[in-house]
Amino acid sequence: MSKKSKKEVSREIGLEVGYLCGNYFLKMNHLHYGYWKEGLELDITNLHIAQDEYAKLVISHIPKSVKTILDVGCGTGQIDKLLLDKGFKVDCLSPSNYLNSKIRELLGDRSNIYESTYEELQTEKRYDMIQFCESFQYIDIEKALSNTHKFLNKNGYMLICDIFKKDVQGKCALSGGHRLYKFNELIGKAPFKLIEQLDITGQTAPNMDLMNDVIQNVVRPAINAGVRLAESRQATAVKVIKWLYRKKIEKLKTKYCSENRTGEEFKKFKLYQLLLYQKID
Ligand SMILES: C[S@@+](CC[C@H](N)C(=O)[O-])C[C@H]1O[C@@H](n2cnc3c(N)ncnc32)[C@H](O)[C@@H]1O
Repeated sequence: MSKKSKKEVSREIGLEVGYLCGNYFLKMNHLHYGYWKEGLELDITNLHIAQDEYAKLVISHIPKSVKTILDVGCGTGQIDKLLLDKGFKVDCLSPSNYLNSKIRELLGDRSNIYESTYEELQTEKRYDMIQFCESFQYIDIEKALSNTHKFLNKNGYMLICDIFKKDVQGKCALSGGHRLYKFNELIGKAPFKLIEQLDITGQTAPNMDLMNDVIQNVVRPAINAGVRLAESRQATAVKVIKWLYRKKIEKLKTKYCSENRTGEEFKKFKLYQLLLYQKID
């Protein structure tokens, strides 16, 4: 595997920390957004239920003919456990060494795990369906489409459940997702036909309100308290560090602590959709 970029390393560590905290404090097993069904109270302690609903939604859209699946960017392998229990043959792919060790604990030898990015995957195996649950956004679109066409059996399926950036004016406080116009342009030229398209932006946007609440009411005050403590002990050193890293600190504040990171902002700038395509040979 080629050397990981700084961005890839920080993304993997972010996912690892997210998984450790979410799993320990909130019983979360997955690394995706929750799907907030009507009636489910928007409360952080319900996030694991919403995540299970997301997994159920994805599984309910698998075509009947599918027997073998490759899960690209499989996170913790929880969806794969559900799929294996339902009788599918499932292989997993993830570039994360830490998450892969968790998947091995969970799945044992029931699944073959490729420790690689999808862009670099090399295999002779072919699958009836290749799925991307909130992982498509991290993969180069052209490479994802060409690899998927190559690794699918005849008439195989590609299932994508992920965020896309809408083409609207203004600056969005939230990152994530390929540009929708770019994806539409490339998929339009690729040998796939659209079978199903489901907009789940409304059911996933509440995650942003939850995260915003945690950041504004827990993370931010906790960081401020830590800084105050450090200032009370080493005022000059803190001043110097703040000045040296002022640009980085400002960037982090804008990226993670902006109060605009809400469900409304998400609905304005993003589209979260489940897409099912069939390969054309
Ligand atoms: C947000 S997590 C989603 C995990 C899982 N699919 C789920 O639904 O819980 C994104 C996943 O994409 C993986 N990923 C990131 N870059 C990738 C790449 N270039 N190729 C394949 N997987 C990648 C990460 O390691 C992680 O497992």
